[in-house]
Amino acid sequence: MNGISNRIAIEPSVLYFGTPVVLLSTENQDGSFNLAPMSSAWALGQTVVLGLGRDGQTARNLGQRPDLVINLPDPALWPAVERLAPLTGRDPVPPTKAAGCRFEPDKFGAAGLHGEPSHMVRPPRVAECPLQLEARAERVQPDVSGEFVIVEAAVRKVHADPRLVVPGTDHVDPAAWSPLIYNFRHYFGLGPELGHSYRTQAPRKVEAPAVQR
Ligand SMILES: Cc1cc2nc3c(=O)[nH]c(=O)nc-3n(C[C@H](O)[C@H](O)[C@H](O)COP(=O)(O)O)c2cc1C
Repeated sequence: MNGISNRIAIEPSVLYFGTPVVLLSTENQDGSFNLAPMSSAWALGQTVVLGLGRDGQTARNLGQRPDLVINLPDPALWPAVERLAPLTGRDPVPPTKAAGCRFEPDKFGAAGLHGEPSHMVRPPRVAECPLQLEARAERVQPDVSGEFVIVEAAVRKVHADPRLVVPGTDHVDPAAWSPLIYNFRHYFGLGPELGHSYRTQAPRKVEAPAVQR
């Protein structure tokens, strides 16, 4: 490389550059529960930061009732996630929602997913999701554009499918867990492992092969 790349300047309509999908369960005003897919989520220690459209039912719920569950679907659940995509828990549907969006009071049923009781929060966990994080929205504030809210959610309890956990430890086995990735509005799973961080604490039976350069 001579220090000059051949990249071209583009103006993509979205910047979803490949982030895990989560399903947020929250409590509606009438005590029923909403479920919404989102992918602008990332962890900072025991806090998960979420970016949500201001006019969605999920943002509205978290502003008033801070309990939530951050459910992580695996790649096989992508059709259920996509069944939720055109639905909102808000009635009437706000004009800012994407074209084709419709109100659905029973998102669990519409997606073919099942709720199971949480331990520390009121909204249910999604039984089909292998990882479920019970959490509480500690801060909900507008973003700079005014179109979104930024939620800082403190995780209070983590539930994992035992097949994902390194036996006798609290470590998720990175070889057993695979997130569902939202990559420029297309769904992907993970490819094979390339290597690991020097900070990993999850013991592995087999070392990953060296990265070929
Ligand atoms: C895979 C996927 C990822 C999404 N990511 C986000 C996101 O990060 N933030 C957001 O506000 N909406 C996101 N959406 C759109 C919401 O799911 C959609 O606006 C939905 O109507 C919200 O439901 P609610 O109004 O009941 O909360 C995503 C949708 C899909 C299918």
